Amino acid sequence: MIVTIDGPAGSGKSSAARMLAEELGFIHLNSGAIFRAIGVAAQEQGVPLDDEAALEQVGRRMKFSFYDQNTKMSGIFVDGVDWGQLILTEDAGKVASRIAVFQRVRDVAAELQRNAGQNGNIVVEGRDAGSVIFPDADFKFYLDASVDVRARRRLRQLESATVTLEPIRQKVDSIGQDFDSVHGDFDSIRRDIAERDLRDSTRTIAPQTCPKDALRIDTSDISLAEVVAKMVAVVESFELNDVQSGV
Ligand code: DC
Repeated sequence: MIVTIDGPAGSGKSSAARMLAEELGFIHLNSGAIFRAIGVAAQEQGVPLDDEAALEQVGRRMKFSFYDQNTKMSGIFVDGVDWGQLILTEDAGKVASRIAVFQRVRDVAAELQRNAGQNGNIVVEGRDAGSVIFPDADFKFYLDASVDVRARRRLRQLESATVTLEPIRQKVDSIGQDFDSVHGDFDSIRRDIAERDLRDSTRTIAPQTCPKDALRIDTSDISLAEVVAKMVAVVESFELNDVQSGV
C-alpha cells in the first residue's frame, strides 16, 4: 500500500506522515529531506546552486536510505549517517526550494522515492508525491493551513529543535548556513514560507498541487491527533470495504 501526503511547508504533513506511518507500521519517507540533503551537500562541496548538472551529480553520489534497520526508525541517512538534524534549518529549506526547480535534481529524488516504494507499505510526503511520483497511490492526502498558522508552527518546531541541534552547529556554520535560522523569528519565517509557497507552486516542473483524487484537510484549526485520526479512518474504511466486497 502506498499513501501520499502533499502540502506546503508547515501544513503539518511531516508530523502527520510520521504518526500515520507509525500507526500503520509503514516506512515514512520525507521527500523534502532529499532536496534539503542534496542542497546541504552542494553547499558543503561548493557547488553553485544554479548548476543543474553538478547538482544532479551531487545527488547521485550520495548513498541515501530512509530506514535504520538497527533502531527500526524511518529517517534520512546518507552513507549510513543520520542527516535529520543537519537539514532542519530554514536556510536548508530555502536552498531545497531553489534546487527543486531543476528537472535533473527532481529525477534523482523521484528515483529514490520510487525505489523506496517498490515494496509498498510506505507513507511518502512531499509536494508532488500524489501528482507525479505515485499517481496510482492507494490513498492521497493534501494538508493545508493559513500562512500565519504555518509560520507559527514552523517557529515552534525550530525552537524545540535548538537544543538537540547544538552539537551540529559547527557543521552548519562551516557550510555557510545561517545558524540563526534555526531559531528564526515569526516575520522572517512567515516571509520565507510565503516565498517558498510561490516558488514551489508556480515552477513549471512538478509544482506543488493538490492531486485531483486527494482528500484535502485544512489543519488550521484541528490538532495533529485529529488529522491523523481522519487519515487512519479513511484508510481503515477502505480496507473494510475491500474485505466486504471480496477484493
Ligand atoms: O517539505 P520541505 O519543506 O522540507 O521541503 C523543502 C523544499 O523542497 C520545498 O520548499 C520544495 C522542495 N520539495 C519539492 O520540490 N518536492 C518535494 N516532493 C518535496 C520538497
